[in-house]
Amino acid sequence: MIKSFEELLSVSETYRKSLEKQYIKVLVCGGTGCVAGGSLKIYERIKELVKEKGLLVEVNLEKEQEGISVKKSGCHGFCEAGPLVRIEPFNYLYLHVKVEDCEEIVQTTVINRKPVERLMFKSNGKVYPTEDEIPFYKKQTRTVLENCGRIDAEHIQEYIAKGGYKAAGIALTEMRSKEICALVSEAGLRGRGGGGFPTGKKWEQVLNQKEPVKYVVCNGDEGDPGAFMDRSIMEGDPHKIIEGMMIAGFATGANNGYIYVRAEYPMAIERLSIAIEQAKDYGLLGKNILGSNFNFDIHINQGAGAFVCGEGSALTASIQGERGMPRVKPPRTVEQGLWAKPTVLNNVETFANVPIVINEGIDGYRKYGTETSPGTKAFALTGNVVNTGLIEVPMGTTLREVIFDIGGGIRDGKRFKAVQIGGPSGGCLCFIEKHLDIKLDFDSLKEVGAMIGSGGMVVMDEDTCMVEVARFFMNFTQKESCGKCIPCREGTKRMLEILERIVAGNGTVEDIDLLYELADTVKNTALCGLGKTAANPVLSTLEYFKDEYMAHVVDKVCPTKTCKKLTKIQIDKDICKGCSKCSKVCPVGAITGKIKEPFTIDTKKCIKCGTCIDTCPFKAIKEV
Ligand SMILES: Cc1cc2nc3c(=O)[nH]c(=O)nc-3n(C[C@H](O)[C@H](O)[C@H](O)COP(=O)(O)O)c2cc1C
Ligand code: SF4
Ligand code: SF4
Repeated sequence: MIKSFEELLSVSETYRKSLEKQYIKVLVCGGTGCVAGGSLKIYERIKELVKEKGLLVEVNLEKEQEGISVKKSGCHGFCEAGPLVRIEPFNYLYLHVKVEDCEEIVQTTVINRKPVERLMFKSNGKVYPTEDEIPFYKKQTRTVLENCGRIDAEHIQEYIAKGGYKAAGIALTEMRSKEICALVSEAGLRGRGGGGFPTGKKWEQVLNQKEPVKYVVCNGDEGDPGAFMDRSIMEGDPHKIIEGMMIAGFATGANNGYIYVRAEYPMAIERLSIAIEQAKDYGLLGKNILGSNFNFDIHINQGAGAFVCGEGSALTASIQGERGMPRVKPPRTVEQGLWAKPTVLNNVETFANVPIVINEGIDGYRKYGTETSPGTKAFALTGNVVNTGLIEVPMGTTLREVIFDIGGGIRDGKRFKAVQIGGPSGGCLCFIEKHLDIKLDFDSLKEVGAMIGSGGMVVMDEDTCMVEVARFFMNFTQKESCGKCIPCREGTKRMLEILERIVAGNGTVEDIDLLYELADTVKNTALCGLGKTAANPVLSTLEYFKDEYMAHVVDKVCPTKTCKKLTKIQIDKDICKGCSKCSKVCPVGAITGKIKEPFTIDTKKCIKCGTCIDTCPFKAIKEV
């Protein structure tokens, strides 16, 4: 039990020294992606091997112990190359590690302190031994994600050893509520959940409410397709979120906090639960925290995984046990949020920024980012890019730097076509080549009619059909519409029907006019952000790729051959040698012919499975 700020600082120093005694640290990535790739078995095996040698130090920083520690950390970010193992103090990063590699890793690096080159990142014949040198990491600035992949998220001692809860100590014992709100305002922190609303201003509005009972709510719903930033922070550094929420509670006069996490994130729920229990045991949650007279508790609320529950008023309704449906505003959440009390609702990443603001001060925080969007932003980089994963860059970094320098460019040497950013809630707009030098910050994106959104970034190559992309997102929003208001409930359904018609080859030019009309109506009349932004993928693809829509409705072809109903499989008579291999593999008997003469495909029977294309040794079969 830590009773004062001074005690916290002294405990932190003790833990830091104990950590230093661990002369080698093996950090096995325990993020969801690497766990799915078998990283927990790797973790157990390395631990077992080090233990056999009598060198294992179990995490207990109360006592100083010399030796080797083996830890399961949060997401290292480079998900594409997982399972990942990082070894300190050399900072070697091993990629695509398998259980069979563990003996060599332990013998060569852990015992003999030499690198295992075959497990390192290589490009153009060059070996990159450490994380800092790998291009994927080099252009990043990891401040919010600083501890993700570097500490064992299940041990509060490691967080404290890294200076954790110091910001809470400063805030609770040396600052007044008003001062904290002013500091957060002046540092320029803006909400990372989509809209970029100034966090300090929101806190001040809650602080100024007369009502004595107030709440702090952390939005960990993260329902956007392609997004996993918040999940990675919850899994990799849960104490940072707790610390941010605690400071928000003190700054606004709230004594209870709720973290809303979707049930599909079991690892995030487990690590947050462990972290809350540990913080209580250490006296960092509960009554009279650090002797400041401030009481604060945090509860976890599991959501059923509905995208609309990420919207503020739907989220608070869901916590209250009601159906997660948005309501008309005002009253706003800052006036009447959870249980109709004034509520601070912020995103996971926003809370994780708060300790940095307090520790670094205004100038320190503003060191990164732009004048109006200070700090950094985490993005989940996915799609047809070489290096996918979790990244963090200063606000103002360009799309080109993210996609080509960090992401390594487009896969398989293909051409860049578009990037979808922001997720359905953030605007879901597509950017094309001419936008590559746009700066990723709240205001630059606003200028081109977009929003940073939550931070999901889906990169698409030349083979992506943009009409199908619009259909995919409309299908998502239509399914996730809560149905409370008619424009969204009916409008998204009708727009989806039209898009389905177009990709099936049954669309008309009039359908495109109807899409514009429906988009306009839903945008202007829907009750919440889900409906208001549902048409954005349609509008932005129509703006930049109208020719693709026209090809579908007029010429009845899909230029990228993605829309199966618009393609045919044909055998080129001039190339076919009549070997009969294709007819033997066709599952529906659509291919016939005489040996040594060109074969033919009955297009009525063909189900376009493509098995024949893969089988033909002469490449005589093509999709046209
Ligand atoms: C349909 C919909 C889904 C949303 N989903 C999320 C979400 O998953 N996480 C989130 O932080 N904000 C989400 N938001 C935005 C929230 O309503 C709210 O603005 C945000 O949590 C405020 O936090 P911030 O100021 O820290 O960004 C969503 C909004 C809409 C309309
Ligand atoms: S816009 Fe859609 S999700 Fe939002 S309240 Fe209306 S029906 Fe529900
Ligand atoms: S496998 Fe190729 S070469 Fe052989 S019959 Fe079929 S199309 Fe002709």
